[in-house]
Amino acid sequence: MFRFEISDKLYLKIFNKKDAQELHELIELNKDYLKKWLNWVDEMEDIENVKEFIKKTRQGFASEENITAGIWYKEELVGVIGYNSIDWKNKKANLGYWLDKQHQGEGIITAACKELVDNAFNNFNLNKVEISCAEGNVKSRAVPERLGFTQEGVIRDAEWLYDKFVNHIQYGMLAEEWE
Ligand SMILES: CC(C)(COP(=O)(O)OP(=O)(O)OC[C@H]1O[C@@H](n2cnc3c(N)ncnc32)[C@H](O)[C@@H]1OP(=O)(O)O)[C@@H](O)C(=O)NCCC(=O)NCCS
Repeated sequence: MFRFEISDKLYLKIFNKKDAQELHELIELNKDYLKKWLNWVDEMEDIENVKEFIKKTRQGFASEENITAGIWYKEELVGVIGYNSIDWKNKKANLGYWLDKQHQGEGIITAACKELVDNAFNNFNLNKVEISCAEGNVKSRAVPERLGFTQEGVIRDAEWLYDKFVNHIQYGMLAEEWE
């Protein structure tokens, strides 16, 4: 079971088959806005792609290689967050996230990240959490910065974003630094 109650309005849980329609609708609604910073949007054209994505997230959870969760706010799916990869050997995980455009500006992602960083250190006994953001993605970069992550460096041409490479800024938080 992977479910976190962050407040009486906000919770995270892994997806199951019956969430496919809601997730599909959320992606459709946010397509153009998400495409600015996420390179998988064109691969989620129809509901079958979303069903396959959910299947993969469940496999990732079962194999403990990654964990992807939906973000529900006031009983409505509003985004996705997760450990994109968990490197158990080196005791570190990489967080990724996106949020419905209309739900930006309420601190939802910051609260969800805080919960998953807490979980990484306190339940998974990891040593490090990383967040990697495109250099120009000011809103995304503000999340680790708000949580006190350290900017560790620039990864040049880290991602192909449809028609150009973008640099990534790598942020890190160590267990000993997290309060
Ligand atoms: C990146 C993204 C998730 C950031 O969303 P966001 O709403 O800015 O982040 P949060 O939910 O943490 O909210 C923070 C905002 O809420 C405000 N806020 C309100 N209450 C808050 C609270 N209790 N705690 C923290 N912030 C709060 C903050 O001031 C901030 O607003 P500001 O940008 O106007 O200063 C979103 O823009 C997105 O999904 N973008 C497209 C996909 C993407 O880029 N994903 C990341 C790829 S690396």
